Amino acid sequence: MKSDLKKDVTLNLKALPSHVAIIMDGNGRWAKKRLMNRVKGHEKGSKTVRSIVAAAREFGIGTLTLYAFSTENWARPKPEVKALMMLLKRFIVSERQELLKNNIRLNIIGQKKRLPPDVQKEIDTTMALTRNNNQMVLNLALSYGSREEITAAVRKIAGKIESKDLNCDDITQDLISAHLYTHAMPDPDLIIRTSGEYRLSNFLLWQAAYSEIYISDTLWPDFSKSEFIEILKNFQKRDRRFGKVTCNTSNDG
Ligand code: FPP
Repeated sequence: MKSDLKKDVTLNLKALPSHVAIIMDGNGRWAKKRLMNRVKGHEKGSKTVRSIVAAAREFGIGTLTLYAFSTENWARPKPEVKALMMLLKRFIVSERQELLKNNIRLNIIGQKKRLPPDVQKEIDTTMALTRNNNQMVLNLALSYGSREEITAAVRKIAGKIESKDLNCDDITQDLISAHLYTHAMPDPDLIIRTSGEYRLSNFLLWQAAYSEIYISDTLWPDFSKSEFIEILKNFQKRDRRFGKVTCNTSNDG
């Protein structure tokens, strides 16, 4: 992997977020601006996914989560859903060797069982092949919705109470976190959303409690490694107080 990071003296590689999550938005608008079909935007967006995964790995980010398909996205026109599933499958197959070479583990958060069987099969193969990789986790959020995730967690916990494996008093924040799709990973330190929309759109609602949020006006197909570096530099200037106060300020926040 060719690196131009050394030239970038102001990005502190020792103070990177451990977990970056991205809401990749704006594929449709990118295509519309060019009088193209929305699917062309998703195709170009897939290329951006490749370059941003490579960049995150190069920087040394431990977990990268990409919101690729939400529970709500099933309601899009059938041809668009079909095209997105085809692009996902293509990505998962074509990136297999790259993930292996770069020691990246593929993980899925969301309702994997709702995906078409051929997509599930390729996901399972890539997940099995990369399961021992330990330099970065690439989490693809597929058929993911935070409310669905929390609802499923509540259902699992209630089942354990019903079967007397748990008591009501055992319900803690850690127990809830342990029943989410993201149970084995840190909460996102930084959530990036492209295309200038100011909302979380049912993405990691529980996990985002203390995430820093960065909204970029760039449409996802145009998002670049250099902008990613600028956002990471911006993150490094933020004062994360987690509701406490820092030594030199009395402001809460
Ligand atoms: C949002 O743009 C994007 C999506 C719903 C899908 C994201 C998918 C990709 C980036 C490509 C495939 C993914 C992988 C992992 C290879 P939008 O369609 O809502 O854009 P709009 O708001 O401008 O209409």
